[in-house]
Amino acid sequence: MATFRSLLLSGLLASTTKAQAFDAGVRGEDAFSYVQPLNTTILGPYGHSPAVLPSPNTTGSGGWEEAFAKAQNFVSQLTLEEKADMVTGQPGPCVGNIVAIPRLGFGGLCLQDGPLSIRVADYASVFSAGVSAASTWDKNVLYERGLAMGKEFKAKGAHIALSPVAGPLGRSAYSGRNWEGFSPDPYLTGVAMEKTIRGHQDAGVQATAKHYIGNEQETQRNPTYDRNGTVTDVIQEAISSNIDDRTMHELYLWPFANAVHAKCASFMCAYQRLNGSYACENSKALNGILKEELGFQGYVMSDWGGTHSGVASIEGGLDMNMPGGLGPYGTVPEAGSFFGGNVTLAVNNGTVDVSRVDDMILRIMTPYFWLGQDQDFPSVDPSSADLNTFSPKSTWVREWNLTGERSRDVRGDHGEMIRRHGAEATILLKNERNALPLKAPKSIAVFGNDAGDDVMGFYNQGDFEYGTLVAGGGSGTGRLTYLVSPLAAINARAKEDNTLVQQWLNNTLIANSNITDLWIPETPDACLVFLKTWAEEAADRQHLDVDWNGNEVVESVAKFCNNTIVVTHSSGINTLPFADHPNVTAILAAHYPGQESGNSIVDVLYGDVNPSGKLPYTIAFNGSDYNAPPTTAVNTTGVYDWQSWFDEKLEIDYRYFDAHNISVRYEFGFGLSYSTFELSDAKAEPLAYGIISKPEDLPILPGGNPALWESVYNVTVSVANKGDVDGATVPQLYVTFPDSTPAGTPPRQLRGFEKVFLAAGESQTVGFELMRRDLSYWDVVSQEWLIPAGEFVLSVGFSSRDLKEVVKITPVEA
Ligand code: BGC
Repeated sequence: MATFRSLLLSGLLASTTKAQAFDAGVRGEDAFSYVQPLNTTILGPYGHSPAVLPSPNTTGSGGWEEAFAKAQNFVSQLTLEEKADMVTGQPGPCVGNIVAIPRLGFGGLCLQDGPLSIRVADYASVFSAGVSAASTWDKNVLYERGLAMGKEFKAKGAHIALSPVAGPLGRSAYSGRNWEGFSPDPYLTGVAMEKTIRGHQDAGVQATAKHYIGNEQETQRNPTYDRNGTVTDVIQEAISSNIDDRTMHELYLWPFANAVHAKCASFMCAYQRLNGSYACENSKALNGILKEELGFQGYVMSDWGGTHSGVASIEGGLDMNMPGGLGPYGTVPEAGSFFGGNVTLAVNNGTVDVSRVDDMILRIMTPYFWLGQDQDFPSVDPSSADLNTFSPKSTWVREWNLTGERSRDVRGDHGEMIRRHGAEATILLKNERNALPLKAPKSIAVFGNDAGDDVMGFYNQGDFEYGTLVAGGGSGTGRLTYLVSPLAAINARAKEDNTLVQQWLNNTLIANSNITDLWIPETPDACLVFLKTWAEEAADRQHLDVDWNGNEVVESVAKFCNNTIVVTHSSGINTLPFADHPNVTAILAAHYPGQESGNSIVDVLYGDVNPSGKLPYTIAFNGSDYNAPPTTAVNTTGVYDWQSWFDEKLEIDYRYFDAHNISVRYEFGFGLSYSTFELSDAKAEPLAYGIISKPEDLPILPGGNPALWESVYNVTVSVANKGDVDGATVPQLYVTFPDSTPAGTPPRQLRGFEKVFLAAGESQTVGFELMRRDLSYWDVVSQEWLIPAGEFVLSVGFSSRDLKEVVKITPVEA
């Protein structure tokens, strides 16, 4: 029997009429929930997506007007076949490719991964991962990193960077891709998105905010296909992230709104379903929320193979199909395309109006002209084409201009910056008996399979046993050109003090040995244990422990060494059961710091850099303490049975632990320094008068109603370095909403942070501007952001649970 999918594959969909397509249940946002068996839980208040049609047209508003006019001129010269090409990826030198139209002087578009490096390239840098960048809580670092990455993408000929990531946000501690993004806190991630995007785009490269939206787990992110030959039938559809309206706005959408506000050129829609229909054809999410409510002027590209229909997706708001073909991840061009020729067909037979296709291209070309990508843009480095396993040369259908210089070295002096960023991202979680910084130790012992050199190659490092880990796996990884391991950096630094350095890198040996039998001639001054934790795309984490018997390794070392210092290189949350061990004197969470890893950690261990990283998530006592675990299995076989109900609503990470008074090991925002800091004198001044609950109804600009982005209060606090070492700290502002706010509002939410560097004894006043959005909740009835009446409590501190100063404000009287 021909399924809808096989009809689509054969191109028949494009020749059906709109009404037929709708009847068939393949049109628009309801594509799949329409054919779901009647199940009241699915048709309840959420888990169902209303249709929002038609797809809003771009106007280039918000500063892109001139570029928009150029794009209009460009589109007016295209033939219908060229239009189809402009919205459909094809095999070529990059991970995603839009073909050139030489007669119009258009050289095509090159899309490259990813969020920590230009992945398909040689002689490029591997920067710190998102989780590390977030751990700096430093807006300058976030921008600088984004800018440097952008420069490398451009120099390699990539017009579009598939970066940064705000989905997953980090709903579940176990999600395999959390490290690519920043933090489960939407405010922190929002700032990180905005800074990164501005950095990428200031370098002349288009940023891509991904994966929009609800991509909070890897398990069943794509459908299970019946793979008997070609991809035809679906056995089970991808999981549906079922998110209610308020949670959507206040949590998952929040950082994506920052992305639109930062004029992000493109959005990548997610693989999974959202409230019943695929994210890449969900008209509520794409047309309604993104293009209408947030005023997004750029284009939506599909995740690779995330397109599940032609007409339905186009009408639902998808503007570019990537990589364009069908088959697993869309990479089998001979299997056809949901777009491509079907777009031409659909326009010719009246199924799709050509004005919609024109809008898709206007959305694609406006940021291109805005960033001046039509002027002297570097050609794609031929070496990228050779390294591209996604669409190897044998699959290319079109000619590609690959005449530029091969293997360009685009790294510049970024290594120095990466070293600094890695050190700044390192979080000191425990430091007792002045274990750190190291003071010219006579002897050091280094333990753990994460300490030494990489032994399995520099690309997509893999979950292998020996070698330090600086990035996770999948499309978000990098291709290292060199890697400074902790052991190499320690050896180099130890020479300065004539320190004796011994090493044991075999975790099995360490975990099962009497350590005193191993070292010579006496107990070392410091035992440094390096542990790692892998995570990768397409798989969720199984546990929150460090890998490779890491806990046992620490126990074994700490049994005999009373100065055991643990360093973790990890994708994110580890529960650290050894944290209270009296011989474990220090713990550092270094996450995935990039190519200078060893130098970064040595800078902190020896005190050349005073640690100032703060946790971008909560470390609980047990893995089972976390809310919202991923859905790892379903015990029924129905096509639509994979569902993930976001019933915890706003209560993820610290919002959950705070709402239920649950003790945690290390709270969100926590991190020690070699110095001590104090806060005093918090004040709040209104910046606007006559504030009312509802925002003024202003014309929508990128980011939504501009009134939401207006500063309404300025909070200031004095921060002083009371210790005797220079260093940076991060005052953090948390907002407690008034009692009149609807139930379910988290007790405290981050709404401001600033990294301040202070010399010993110095103090400074820091300001946090609170925008209207920061003091509003999403009212599901009026569909507005409202400032609730009554008193807000603003707490400023050094973590979410170390709040030092409180000020109260009442923007709107009760
Ligand atoms: C990932 C995207 C990535 C794309 C291209 C997909 O599998 O989800 O993040 O950009 O592949 O490599």
